[in-house]
Order: sequence, then C-alpha cells, then structure tokens
Amino acid sequence: MKIVLFGAGGFIGSHLVEHLAARAEHDIVAVDVSDDKLAGIPPTAYRFHRADIRSDRDLVDELIAEADLVVDLVAYANPSIYVEAPLEVVDLNFVANLDIVERCVRHRRRLIQYSSCEVYGKFSGREGDRVDEEADLVYGPVSKHRWIYASAKQLLERIIHAHGLAGQLEFTILRPFNFIGPRLDYLVPPGTRGGPRVFAHFMSALLSGGPLQLVDGGTARRSFLHIADATAAFQAVLDDPDGSRNAIFNVGNPDNDTSIRGLAEVMLDVYWELTGEEPTSELVTVAAEDFYGAGYDDDGRLPPDITRLSALGWKPQRDLRTTVRETMAYYLGEHAAGRLSVPALPVR
Ligand code: NAD
Ligand code: UGA
Repeated sequence: MKIVLFGAGGFIGSHLVEHLAARAEHDIVAVDVSDDKLAGIPPTAYRFHRADIRSDRDLVDELIAEADLVVDLVAYANPSIYVEAPLEVVDLNFVANLDIVERCVRHRRRLIQYSSCEVYGKFSGREGDRVDEEADLVYGPVSKHRWIYASAKQLLERIIHAHGLAGQLEFTILRPFNFIGPRLDYLVPPGTRGGPRVFAHFMSALLSGGPLQLVDGGTARRSFLHIADATAAFQAVLDDPDGSRNAIFNVGNPDNDTSIRGLAEVMLDVYWELTGEEPTSELVTVAAEDFYGAGYDDDGRLPPDITRLSALGWKPQRDLRTTVRETMAYYLGEHAAGRLSVPALPVR
C-alpha cells in the first residue's frame, strides 16, 4: 500500500514514518516543510517531499491521486500560537486541511485525519469521569482565541463526517490526548513564556536549571500518552480498516491522568533518578495571562474513554512514570552527547 503522510516531519509524523519504515510493508511518502526530525530514519526507507500544503497544491494533488491512504497531521498545535496568530491557525488547520479532504473526496482516497482532544473544549466532570467520542463540544467566548484551534478542528471533523455520510469519503478521525516522547516540539531558554507544549518547557527548564513555570498554579489536568503507544494505536487502525471505517477515536491513556503540578513533580523526581543529581529548578506559579496573553483560556480536560479504540485490540502499555522516564532519558542522552542544547535566545 502507498501511504502519503502530510506533516510527516513533525513530532507524531516522524514516529509514524520511523515505525512504518521499520516494518517495511508499505511505500511511504513523507511530506513536510521540514525534515529535521526524520534525520535518524534511513533515507532509503521512505520518499520525502519538502512541500508546503498551502502553496504546492499540484504536488499535493498528485500525491493524493497516487496514494492508497492519506494521513494528515499538518497543524499549528501549540496553544501559544492560537492566541498569538489565530488567523494563521484557521488558514493552516482548517483551510489548508480542508483542501486535502476535498482532494481525498475527488480521488476517492481513504483519509486518516489527526484531530485533537481539544475539540471537546471545556468539558468537566466528577472524579473518575471519562469523555467519550459522542460527548458535547463546549467552548469559551470568541474573545478567548484559544478556542479557534478547537473550532477549526471541529469544523474539519464535521465536514469529513458529512462526506462520509454522503458516501463520498472513507475516513478515520483520531483525537490525540497529550502524546509525549522524543522530538516533541523544541527547547526554550529559561523563563520563556508561550512557545512549546508543557513537556518541552519543563524539560528545557530541567536542562538549564531554570524554573518550571506552573500556569495558574498547575491545577489543570492532562492524560499523557507515550508516543510508542500512540504509534501502536495508529497501527491498530491500519490493521482494521473495517473496524475503523468512518469512525472517530480517542487516543489517550486515562490511567496517566495528572495535574500539571503532578507532572512537574514526577519530572523533578525522574531527573534525580536518571542523573543522580538533585535538580536545581524550582516550581514557580505564573498567571495564564502573563504566560500566554489575554486570549488564553484553559479547559477542565477529562481523561479519555478508550472503549472504541480498545475494541480494535489496542491498549496503552506505559504508565505515567515510565512514559516520562523514557522521554526524559532521550532528552538527557541527546543533551549529554551534545546533539541538543537549550538555546540562549527564544526560538520558534
Ligand atoms: P508538530 O507541530 O510536531 O507537527 C506538525 C507538522 O506539520 C510539522 O512538522 C510542520 O512542519 C508541518 N507543517 C506545518 N505547516 C505545514 C505546511 N504548510 N505544509 C506542510 N507541512 C506543514 O505537531 P504534532 O504534535 O506532531 O501533531 C500532529 C497532529 O496531531 C496535528 O494535527 C495536531 O493538531 C494533532 N495533535 C497532536 C497532539 C499531540 O499530543 N502531539 C495532540 C492533539 C492533536
Ligand atoms: C495542546 C494543543 O492544544 C493540542 O495540540 C493538543 O490537543 C494537546 O496539546 C495535546 O498535546 O494533546 P494543551 O494540553 O493545553 O493543548 O497543551 P500544553 O501546552 O502542553 O499545556 C498543558 C497544560 O500545561 C496547560 O494547562 C498549560 O497552561 C500548562 N503549562 C504549559 C504550564 O503549566 N507550564 C508551561 O510551561 C506550559
């Protein structure tokens, strides 16, 4: 089967390409504006196109026409961007992704779309509650631009679903819940505000001795999934085209639910365990408005109900501490080998 992956050079995409390349069962076509994160994968195992899905539309069309399966991962996925550049988020995450959907419809190609758990919005519940794929989607006010990302992802999902209903598209929508692992985002100088997702922030702080900044005290909760478990979930979908046809799946580990303060405490502890050195980083509280800007809002994210994906035979294997330890071991190893450093100046 020929699989074309858009956004293949990102965090999740690079792990999918690595996984598919190791299995050597399919022709893999990787498309991205950058291939930095694909560096360790044998170049003969896949074909790479450096292309922008917004401007290289003829190439995109050609690749979709040739493919048996299209996987779309392209998006701005860091909350700081939703607040700083909401229109760019709509342009990439909705308009450019819709173009891919429409080309899949035209060429009758199967699509696996990476959406987000963030589509659920401000869902809340009692201790032990889980969110399933039929839950209501509830967002904050328009002035809180954080929700533009979820709105774009939600509308894209609705259009994909409607094409499926009309018999024009075979699709699977995946809603990831906070995957972590090697190659997540990028490192930042101590005290940076905004920027990458939380694990990359805390890892940067530990490597530089800077503070671990807890937005609004770190009471928000997230369920973290090891990227290897996430890749296994993709494989489960691939292995069961009938069971995953025109369906939406949560992809996460409900047992790895923690507050962000809890994540910081585990990371401090694991740092000590892996390096033998007491971390010098402190936990500090920072107001959300100071960290992200006025358009930020947070959700009361519930852990995922994974009944649907479990029915395909998938089960997450790694608990929170193992997930954190394996990811931190990668960063510490790369840092010690001089292949990764905390920049002195802000980067994007
Ligand atoms: P990422 O930012 O690492 O990957 C996105 C990739 O898209 C990047 O490599 C980027 O270069 C590429 N890209 C951006 N603009 C492009 C363009 N115009 N043309 C071609 N390529 C372009 O993000 P990720 O964490 O790998 O997430 C992948 C997908 O999964 C996204 O759709 C994201 O919204 C979704 N998601 C991820 C998570 C998670 O836990 N990582 C959670 C929820 C949703
Ligand atoms: C993000 C994106 O919206 C989506 O890509 C995706 O749905 C989700 O990640 C995911 O990875 O599944 P979010 O979970 O809010 O959403 O992403 P983070 O930036 O990792 O933030 C998690 C929590 O940590 C938030 O409460 C945030 O305020 C907090 N945070 C972040 C800190 O306390 N300190 C930091 O240094 C950074």
